[in-house]
Amino acid sequence: MQPPPALRTAVPLISAPMAGPAGGRLAHAVSTAGGLGMIGVAPDRGSDWIRREAAIAGAGGTAYGIGLLAWGLDLAPDHLDTVVELRPALVSVSFGEYAEPVRRLREAGIPTATQVGSPADLDRAVAAGVDVIVARGGEGGGHGRDQMATLPLLQLVLGRTDLPVYAAGGILDHRGLAAVLAAGAAGAWVGTAFLGCAEAEGTPAAKAALFAAEKTGYGRVFDVATQAPWPREFGGRAVANAFFEEWQGREDDLDDAARDRFGAAVTAGDFSVAHVYAGQGVAALTGETTAADVVAGFARALPTHPA
Ligand SMILES: Cc1cc2nc3c(=O)[nH]c(=O)nc-3n(C[C@H](O)[C@H](O)[C@H](O)COP(=O)(O)O)c2cc1C
Repeated sequence: MQPPPALRTAVPLISAPMAGPAGGRLAHAVSTAGGLGMIGVAPDRGSDWIRREAAIAGAGGTAYGIGLLAWGLDLAPDHLDTVVELRPALVSVSFGEYAEPVRRLREAGIPTATQVGSPADLDRAVAAGVDVIVARGGEGGGHGRDQMATLPLLQLVLGRTDLPVYAAGGILDHRGLAAVLAAGAAGAWVGTAFLGCAEAEGTPAAKAALFAAEKTGYGRVFDVATQAPWPREFGGRAVANAFFEEWQGREDDLDDAARDRFGAAVTAGDFSVAHVYAGQGVAALTGETTAADVVAGFARALPTHPA
């Protein structure tokens, strides 16, 4: 099935809604470069923040999307009203109970997406009536499942639904985009490859930690350290720093002293302890770039592109 019209972009590429790095600036830059840029909304943001970032993303009539965390809508019930009012080109609602928000968005004529990480997730997404499925493998950055890798998940999902499917998790450049298009995906949903962009939010020290990183780890260490109310079934993939290695596998023993040490490191920008969420592809990031360059790189996957 064809993606909704707003997703038929020059480059079949959606920049993932990453709460933190993906504000209006990144979304606008990706969309003007030929993809579709999305804003990632953390539950502790106010609706005024969403409106402000949406105005930046949508400047000059540029299309953009917004990504909500389903479990966060209980904590910030006004987010859905705000997003319905803003009418972005695409709204994703992932990780948690999204059937009711999807119903409301679709009723308002707004195309919806959700990220699936398992066959059972796919069944739930189809039953909820989402318009676009994102098959997100465990290689991906930030939160989600680590049950299946992108390639087996993508093949399974493509074999079970006629809905448009975007592949996510570990897609770094034109090679990965070409591979998932060849498999039958409508495009790629990419987070980590945009983290080094000048338009992505993040301190210079956090970006330096990304450029130096080679290895990621998956789990709940940082959620326990930050006391983030993520449902247990969705762990996070982040740069595997010394703090992660120390506490992985014994998160439930993480005590107040460790939490204090963690909090102090976040304030100081000490990324041997503080967290930076990123997918396995972080090893390919070497230095600051721009969203236009990243999108142009992905465009080399297109058959019409002069290599
Ligand atoms: C720093 C970071 C923050 C993220 N935040 C969100 C989020 O707020 N909402 C969401 O639906 N997905 C979020 N994700 C997951 C992405 O939507 C996507 O699944 C992932 O980036 C794809 O894998 P990749 O990072 O290998 O490209 C985040 C990912 C990263 C790296």
